[in-house]
Amino acid sequence: WVRMVTAQTPTNIAVIKYWGKRDETLILPVNDSISVTLDPAHLCTTTTVAVSSSFDQDRMWLNGKEISLSGGRFQNCLREIRARACDVEDEEKGIKIAKKDWEKLHVHIASFNNFPTAAGLASSAAGFACLVFALAKLMNAKEDNSELSAIARQGSGSACRSLFGGFVKWIMGKAEDGRDSLAVQLVDEKHWDELVIIIAVVCSRQKETSSTTGMRDSVETSLLLKHRAKEVVPKRITEMEEAIKTRDFESFAQLTCADSNQFHAVCLDTCPPIFYMNDTSHRIISCVEKWNRSEGTPQVAYTFDAGPNAVLIAHNRKAATQLLQKLLFCFPPSSDTDLNSYVIGDKSI
Ligand code: DP6
Repeated sequence: WVRMVTAQTPTNIAVIKYWGKRDETLILPVNDSISVTLDPAHLCTTTTVAVSSSFDQDRMWLNGKEISLSGGRFQNCLREIRARACDVEDEEKGIKIAKKDWEKLHVHIASFNNFPTAAGLASSAAGFACLVFALAKLMNAKEDNSELSAIARQGSGSACRSLFGGFVKWIMGKAEDGRDSLAVQLVDEKHWDELVIIIAVVCSRQKETSSTTGMRDSVETSLLLKHRAKEVVPKRITEMEEAIKTRDFESFAQLTCADSNQFHAVCLDTCPPIFYMNDTSHRIISCVEKWNRSEGTPQVAYTFDAGPNAVLIAHNRKAATQLLQKLLFCFPPSSDTDLNSYVIGDKSI
């Protein structure tokens, strides 16, 4: 017999960034963060998990290629879900699995991303969130999404925010065992549905410095990171929550851009310095800043993660259309820049 579950999870983009861990194994952050979850039609992971009495080991395939499951992060997520597994009774297929049997059973996992893996488009976020959600369904774990987020967090920090749609806050928590470091939904996907998210894919190659290594170096060497985590982010989180609640785009854009820029300043303040953005990224920032200033009130916010791709959040459809025209003018398809495509995604679950 085989029991199978398939789940689909969108990626999320932080508007107040997570950068730096206070515990590397449990993946506990040095500050709260806030993100927006994208529409699954554009950037998502689809994961099928299967269990069968004939499987003799846990195995996983990512985009069709088998990958090793020996990494601590996979094992931690698997162990946590196994510990919460319950009895399963599937009458239709005649499958009965008792709670105690899960320890002996093995799973096969097949996961696909519909966007570039490890190109700074938060693929690990969607990946681990989807894996944990699918395993929880397979094993009939009863935990709610916030409780599952604390498990997904142990796969990749940003993954905990992908268990919800809309705007999501990852509360850093205080407990040493990480039980209060989890995600909560601030507002659902309908709350601010006029926003349009455009991703300008500057480069889809694998990034040179992984987020994990980058943030470890920043924690060890950047004084700006300490100042950011203690003095800057707590105030920004409060202001961002208010801007989201009241749909105040001007404050939202100002906070989003400032936080992205400070995150990249922390990267430069790291020894050795980390360069995630490139010349094209910088030109996109200039283009947006110039346009926002000429309009008097911001029309678009930009944010960049651990890579050169721009995530542009337009106030509404009209602003999004104008933005695309401007970008096409600044980066004509025949030019030698490496801005090669756009992914347009609405905020959704
Ligand atoms: C810049 O969640 O990929 O995207 O926890 O080590 O897996 P690990 O890091 P990861 O880092 C994401 C960093 C970021 C900002 C963010 O998403 O908040």
